[in-house]
Amino acid sequence: MSDTSTKESVKTYDPAEPLAENMVRVVFLPENKCVEFEPGKLPYKHHGRPESLLDVAENFDIFLDHACGGSCACTTCHVHVKQGAELLSETEDDEADRLDMAADLQLNSRLGCQSVIKKPGTVVVEIPAWNRNYVSEGHAPKKE
Ligand code: FES
Repeated sequence: MSDTSTKESVKTYDPAEPLAENMVRVVFLPENKCVEFEPGKLPYKHHGRPESLLDVAENFDIFLDHACGGSCACTTCHVHVKQGAELLSETEDDEADRLDMAADLQLNSRLGCQSVIKKPGTVVVEIPAWNRNYVSEGHAPKKE
């Protein structure tokens, strides 16, 4: 398992800054934290699908709650995709069923653990306030 210095590469989002070709940029609102990586090169952090929004957040130490450990069994990783939805994997039935139970469901709602970045470009997501303020007491992440 390789160790990367991903933490240092979290920066404040500047929409004017060009994105290098074939790179992925993910912006987490409202903190405006911006991370970039080469698709397929992110080490898997074992929460959610590889290179899902949750996996990206985990790689860069950005807090995105995930009470079920990323197995599509809760809604704590719920995000609103503000830009770049077309770069993500399609919503599958399991995710759609789970999202139906989510608070503050919107047309741009996705589960961070199930939304895999499939193409280079910029994805902007907002972590809802109720998720940011959520304290997962007693929610030990479980595997499968
Ligand atoms: S972390 Fe539970 S559904 Fe995504």
